[in-house]
Amino acid sequence: MENLYLIRSKSDDQNIIVGLKLLEYYSKNYKNIAIYCPIASKHDISIFQEWLNQFSINQNIENTYSFIDKDAMEEFNKDSNIFFNTILKTYEELKEKYEFVLTIGFSQFGIGILDTFGLNVKIAKNLNTPIVADVCSEYMSMTQKHLDKLLNGKNYVLIDENIDFEKISQLKSYDFMTPYRFKYEMIKKGIKNKKTVVLPEGNDERILKACDILLKTEVVDLIILGDEKEIKQNAEKLMLNIHSAKMMNPSTSDLCEEFASMLYEARKSKGMTLDQAKELVKDKTYFGTLLVHSGKADAMVSGASTTTAETIRPALQLIKTQEGVSSVSGLFFMGLEDKMLAFADCAVNPNPTAEQLASSAYVSAMTAKSFGLDPKVALLSYSSGDSGKGESVDLVKEALKIAKEKYPELNIDGPMQFDCAYDPKTAASKMPESKIAGQINVYVFPDLDAANIGYKAVQRTANALAIGPILQGLKKPVNDLSRGCLVDDIVDTVILSAVQAQ
Ligand code: ACO
Repeated sequence: MENLYLIRSKSDDQNIIVGLKLLEYYSKNYKNIAIYCPIASKHDISIFQEWLNQFSINQNIENTYSFIDKDAMEEFNKDSNIFFNTILKTYEELKEKYEFVLTIGFSQFGIGILDTFGLNVKIAKNLNTPIVADVCSEYMSMTQKHLDKLLNGKNYVLIDENIDFEKISQLKSYDFMTPYRFKYEMIKKGIKNKKTVVLPEGNDERILKACDILLKTEVVDLIILGDEKEIKQNAEKLMLNIHSAKMMNPSTSDLCEEFASMLYEARKSKGMTLDQAKELVKDKTYFGTLLVHSGKADAMVSGASTTTAETIRPALQLIKTQEGVSSVSGLFFMGLEDKMLAFADCAVNPNPTAEQLASSAYVSAMTAKSFGLDPKVALLSYSSGDSGKGESVDLVKEALKIAKEKYPELNIDGPMQFDCAYDPKTAASKMPESKIAGQINVYVFPDLDAANIGYKAVQRTANALAIGPILQGLKKPVNDLSRGCLVDDIVDTVILSAVQAQ
């Protein structure tokens, strides 16, 4: 039996009857049940207290909700990430502790300004908990149509005072990967196996603000590069607490000599002199890369003030690619309403060869898998199957051949147009023989122009969350920030890098 998300009706009396009937039934069937309400009113809380007593539920009243009324609206407007993460965290903790959790949706949010029903469905999708909607009879058919649309026809049950428990027992958990769940899982993974990330740009306010958030979450250990006194003064001015971060100054560090000879040894065959190496290690990006290369840090995140090329060149020269990977590439996770897609290569290779496209496809699938997706990969083109002809189509066909030979376990197909890759109906008419067209979650674009324009178009026009770019294929993670990055982008990239380092 799955946990349930009860959406309440407009009638308070009916809600009480339904709540009591559900608790009566489930407290008989399970020894250990819990009640949870994401946003509770004071009135709700007093009813929950009565229910805890009546059904001998072993749960503190403080654990039955995440927010009280107005606080929820405030947090939702201030930072929806924290809002959803708090709800996911409370719920997942209850889920671990109790055999059955009855989530009771909130009946009003934001004094009725916002779409309460829609937000309840959104939270149920984030919790992947099937919906039982308590509906007054006159709203039944309208609610059914609405839920069919919001849940992509997934299972839910409409009830009134007469509850069909047999029907409810057929419900299955949802499998949505919402951007909030994706981030929640990432943080959970990071905390479980804590890694050290170096941030070379200690002179940037956004970096310091991100450090404050990251250290509060205790998801990573941090090394910040720059002048310690200056960094501390700036943090104080901004009222940030970054005390637990380690600080190092590339201009004066004791490590400079060791790093200079390390860099010289690695690059002397390319013509680097020891004097040049001694000078280069004072550069914050080289110093940070050397911290990762030498194992003193697990990952680096940089690029708030440097170009992609400046950020990643030291890593390409020093850290180098993993065995079996010929080319480094950059992937973005694109968070849509209830699913995550991966786009590559949005960051590194302007004009990839067929070999590089195949390599991008493989490492992208591995990255997607390590973040919880079951990778189905498309090599994108302006042509689907054999429909179009041209040099770039031939290149994609060649890449598919190489990928299939080199990585026989890879679930990959192409060439494919985006609509054919994404939409099952289009796939059925354009590539009916393909097993994965229409269900693609890893999209490999034919070149950097297409990929970079593609991810930004989806990010801006569809308001999708873009997490990345994740540089993939390096032996150790080094990730690049955009110069226009926001504090949230830095936080996401640091957590992502820590998870990549595991
Ligand atoms: N994978 C692995 N190694 C590579 C790769 C790659 N894709 N590209 C270069 N290298 C290695 C080279 O083999 C070389 O190693 P070596 O010196 O030990 O022989 C080293 O990196 C330097 O190679 P160069 O050819 O000198 O590379 P260069 O520094 O000129 O360029 C770079 C490499 C930085 C990746 C370049 O291709 C580039 O600028 N790409 C575009 C980056 C960009 O602007 N992206 C878009 C913006 S990002 C965004 O919007 C998210």
